[in-house]
Amino acid sequence: MSFLRIEGGRNLSGRVSIAGAKNATLPILASGLLSGGLLRLENVPRLEDTAAMAGALRAVGASIEEVLPNVLEMRMEQPPRPLQEGEESLARNIRTGVLFLGPMLSRFGWAQACLPGGCRIGARPLDLHIWGLSKLGATIHIGEKHIEARGRLQGCDLRLPFPSVGASENLLMAAASARGTTRLRGVAREPEVVDLCRCLRAMGARLEGEGSAEIVVEGSDGEPLEGASHRLLPDRIETGSYALAVAATGGSLLLCDTPPRCDLAVFFEHLQRCGVAVEEEQEEGQQRGLRITREGGFSAVSLTTAPHPGFPTDLQAQFTAAMCFADATSDPVVVTESVFENRFMHLQELQRMGAAVTLEGCRAHLSPQGGLTGADVTASDLRASFSLVIAGLAARGTTTISALHHLDRGYERLEAKISSCGAQIERMPSAAPSRRRAKPSIAALSARPSEKKPGEHPWLPAC
Ligand code: UD1
Repeated sequence: MSFLRIEGGRNLSGRVSIAGAKNATLPILASGLLSGGLLRLENVPRLEDTAAMAGALRAVGASIEEVLPNVLEMRMEQPPRPLQEGEESLARNIRTGVLFLGPMLSRFGWAQACLPGGCRIGARPLDLHIWGLSKLGATIHIGEKHIEARGRLQGCDLRLPFPSVGASENLLMAAASARGTTRLRGVAREPEVVDLCRCLRAMGARLEGEGSAEIVVEGSDGEPLEGASHRLLPDRIETGSYALAVAATGGSLLLCDTPPRCDLAVFFEHLQRCGVAVEEEQEEGQQRGLRITREGGFSAVSLTTAPHPGFPTDLQAQFTAAMCFADATSDPVVVTESVFENRFMHLQELQRMGAAVTLEGCRAHLSPQGGLTGADVTASDLRASFSLVIAGLAARGTTTISALHHLDRGYERLEAKISSCGAQIERMPSAAPSRRRAKPSIAALSARPSEKKPGEHPWLPAC
């Protein structure tokens, strides 16, 4: 039960190397189930989630080895075997275990996945995955612990009612080895989905349209795809998280090995409207770098999350935390979460640090006060954890953050990266201290308590 202790109030200055994208790595590892050869992946982040996905793949019969730092090699030569007692927990701990269904079923005619875990940020149903696989011809049985699917898949026209990232990925992989053509409309346009398509193409899959709302896949009719080598794209959420850390503390960070700026265009527009400078910097050796600088004060802006190319829901918590450090003269702002219905668990922890923030349904109302005060806080999910790191780095005094298993799922070498930029941050091995909270400010005291209206969710289809 280790915890982080942060002495806040220091500007950040230095450079941070961005790791490979977690959310590209997990589906691309699942895509290895389609290949009859060797899949070699470079720039794989060393994370709890990557290890959990590799463990779950080994449990169904894949061989996966880290042959060099951040380089994995995977083979799936024989038909998958059912998960045994004890192995199930491996697969259940990770939501992306459900991504086994599409590729396994389409190559082997049988698939099994555990009902998934992952961040508790909403109901997170799997109806779109199941609906799409059924349309492709699968017979699906949902048990208490497992989903089992059988059948020979036949390509068809599918229109997703919402561009679910996971469902798009699962159905793309299912289509890659199905019989005939699949036309997938309303598909997610996230860069990680595009990266999966690039990897599938390197494996010999025939598809076109990635990055748009329609992808057409010509299936291999049950034939395994070829071996391939693929370098994972850099993590845009890690990039945005460090950009927000320096926005909150002030200072200047050079972020290296970042994704193309257009992958975060809407996010950077918001950051620049706050008064934070975002500049591309060419380094020796042709490396791409993004310099993020905040000098002096900055102002708060409102945001609404949306599927790509909109503002990423995975940066909402970190942005909200940074907004607490906007000038006290800033107007109040509204943060609207339109992708997940329960993604505001960081608010009560920010309130402990003195934030004047209230929740009404899917909207958080925040009155910036120019800062927060250190307190003992608890992480509730992956991105919420980094929002507390941002709050701790910029707050006055000491902050401790417990429940670090969330953070370790998705941020590689966090303490090393951020302490090399001047932060005072340390992982303490023992149990977290008692829950000290900041003395509430007048604005925080006058804020109304959270009220979530049941069923209020702007887009979720009633399916
Ligand atoms: C992925 C990302 C996650 C990110 C999210 C949205 C990975 C490993 N995780 O999660 O970090 O926050 O995209 O960008 O890539 N939904 C349904 N039915 C379904 C599937 C989803 O109603 O069958 C709903 C979800 O409950 C949620 C919304 O669709 O409200 C978006 O979910 P989805 O895009 O599927 O996210 P994930 O793939 O789980």
